[in-house]
Amino acid sequence: MGSLIGTVHMQMQAITGHRILRLAGSFGAAAFVATYPVFIERYLVLTNTYRIPVPHLPEAFRGFRIVHLTDLHYGFLVPLWVIRHVVSRTNRLERDLVVCTGDYVHERNGTAQIDRVWPVLSELTARFGVCSVLGNHDHWADTSRSQEWLTRTGQDLRHKAISIENEGQRLWLAGAGDLWEDHRNLDDLLRDVPDSECRIVLAHNPDTADTRFSARVDLILSGHTHGGQVELPLVGTPLLPVRNKEYSSGLKVSPKGARVFISKGIGWAVFPVRFNCLPEIAVLELVPESAGEETRRTRKGASTRRPRGMPLDHV
Ligand SMILES: [Fe+2]
Repeated sequence: MGSLIGTVHMQMQAITGHRILRLAGSFGAAAFVATYPVFIERYLVLTNTYRIPVPHLPEAFRGFRIVHLTDLHYGFLVPLWVIRHVVSRTNRLERDLVVCTGDYVHERNGTAQIDRVWPVLSELTARFGVCSVLGNHDHWADTSRSQEWLTRTGQDLRHKAISIENEGQRLWLAGAGDLWEDHRNLDDLLRDVPDSECRIVLAHNPDTADTRFSARVDLILSGHTHGGQVELPLVGTPLLPVRNKEYSSGLKVSPKGARVFISKGIGWAVFPVRFNCLPEIAVLELVPESAGEETRRTRKGASTRRPRGMPLDHV
């Protein structure tokens, strides 16, 4: 009888132990689900490499590597160590040029964040320099202070077009104003660029590609969407702040035929979450458009077909 009671007691202990473990597991899972989109995914910054076919790209620029940073949104939930990390990681990448397409801060009507983030951004370097434009949040914080820093750091491409020469050939880089706060017609921006030469435009908002202009644009580099921040199975990206919902992330073609690359960027706006939409440092490896479809390199040197706009590799 005594041993029977002992057995029952042990079984009850085992059942109670299992329940506690299961409960703890459920609480742990619930806590993870609740905290992951707010406190975890946003810090898992990937380096994604894309091969981008570009019309009119001179042969001298085959394999030209642009590191594209956007939407850092320094401020709440994006502390300065994240910005420093992104900058130092960028400076360690193989790169010819760095471009930044706006939204460097989070605050509105203030200059404190601008004055803290730009000294870090000023540390970006590349063989052919660093070119930057502004996004809507930079205007919402303070347009003139943001412009001051663009000028002071030598990164200013806002409303400007410059050429880059390599082995006697050249391409053009032009910086559009932000579509919501600072838009000017792209025809004006590209007025002095020779018709036959390759044109790459930095434009914070990818909807810029669908504005009225007649000039040819070979490639537009944008951010603004943060990739939608949340990407749900079957639903997709319900939080895209753009008119053309095709412009979520990756390489797209506009109705006018321009290639538009949209980076998922680093930070957030409106909803402080990221889910299934990891932040990225985008490395764009340019190839003349005739080179055809993207390929994915493998360690053995073999290659496999890859849909356009998908990263070649993650780091
Ligand atoms: Fe943004």
